[in-house]
Amino acid sequence: MTPYALECINLSKAFGQLSVLEDVTFGVEAGQLTALLGPSGCGKTTLLRLIAGFEQPDSGVIIINGRVVADQQREVPAEQRRVGMVFQEYALFQHLDVAGNIAFGLRGSPRQKQARASELLALVGLTGLEKRMPYELSGGQQQRVALARALAPRPEILLLDEPFSNLDAALRIQLRAEVKAILKSTGTTCIFVTHDQEEALSFADQVAVMLGGRILQVAPPQQIYHHPASLEVAEFVGESNRLTGHASGGTVTCLLGEVSTASPMRGPVDVLIRPEALSLHPANGQQPHGHITWREFYGHDQRLGVVLSDGTSLVVRLGPEDAFEVGQEVSIRLAAPAMIFPRHAGD
Ligand SMILES: Nc1ncnc2c1ncn2[C@@H]1O[C@H](COP(=O)(O)OP(=O)(O)O)[C@@H](O)[C@H]1O
Ligand SMILES: [Mg+2]
Repeated sequence: MTPYALECINLSKAFGQLSVLEDVTFGVEAGQLTALLGPSGCGKTTLLRLIAGFEQPDSGVIIINGRVVADQQREVPAEQRRVGMVFQEYALFQHLDVAGNIAFGLRGSPRQKQARASELLALVGLTGLEKRMPYELSGGQQQRVALARALAPRPEILLLDEPFSNLDAALRIQLRAEVKAILKSTGTTCIFVTHDQEEALSFADQVAVMLGGRILQVAPPQQIYHHPASLEVAEFVGESNRLTGHASGGTVTCLLGEVSTASPMRGPVDVLIRPEALSLHPANGQQPHGHITWREFYGHDQRLGVVLSDGTSLVVRLGPEDAFEVGQEVSIRLAAPAMIFPRHAGD
């Protein structure tokens, strides 16, 4: 028995000469919300299409609730996988009204279908709009209908492919909170594709980081952010300052002084420091020091650029109350743990 609702094992897929997915392995627990985070073109949609059954992997295995749906011998058709998918562009049927769109994939008598469509409309907060046509709906409403349509046949797995990317920022935040509440209330297992880090970190139970057709780490958001598995993940997820350092035993020496490491290492290392892990102090003669070159105020916090006396540029994130001015001389300190990655020959 697998504890996973979905397992992808060593999936690979190429289109002609172009290798798009390489050895993709990860699992999703039942009822969990997984964000698939990666830049445009890294293979996210292709991975969803393999899971949904719209494409066949070149190699590897896909298991949904213990049932192999794709491997070298088998290919369970998309309509038998109990996987729902919401596409980036809403892809509603333009000739069907809202109720018709939601009922489209349902079986049963007209009365049963209608009852289920009404249930789903209530769930997504669109009761009363049954008879509207897609072109009579706002973008947010269309996306709610697309979600209702995908959920109507009670899928075991729901795949959302950048579902909010066409919406404005405020609606996007509201809708993703609503979608999360709906998914949790129905206990639906979900993979949610995004290239927006903040969305991935804030929305998901676990984040799968994908770069260049490979999944580099699957972990809860805090772990991805504070304990990235590699330099690549650390630099892709969240902002960071990168310094070189030298490790000896349990200590790393870098421009900002000595940093202790969790595991003993030796030799050259990269030291990655989140902007909020640095603190600034009025120049007090202590090293290292530099001066502030720019400042961006966001309301809830602020970002500042500091150039050290040796020319190194750092980004610092401070609370909204700290009053430093551009041009001001400051001392800088490491106020929280840094992330250390050994450098390999050729790095
Ligand atoms: N059917 C296809 N035929 C050829 N190339 C494709 C096909 N689908 C996707 N690709 C290519 O595969 C790569 C990954 O695409 P995609 O999975 O859509 O990435 P993402 O969703 O992460 O932006 C891209 O280079 C894309 O052009
Ligand atoms: Mg895509």
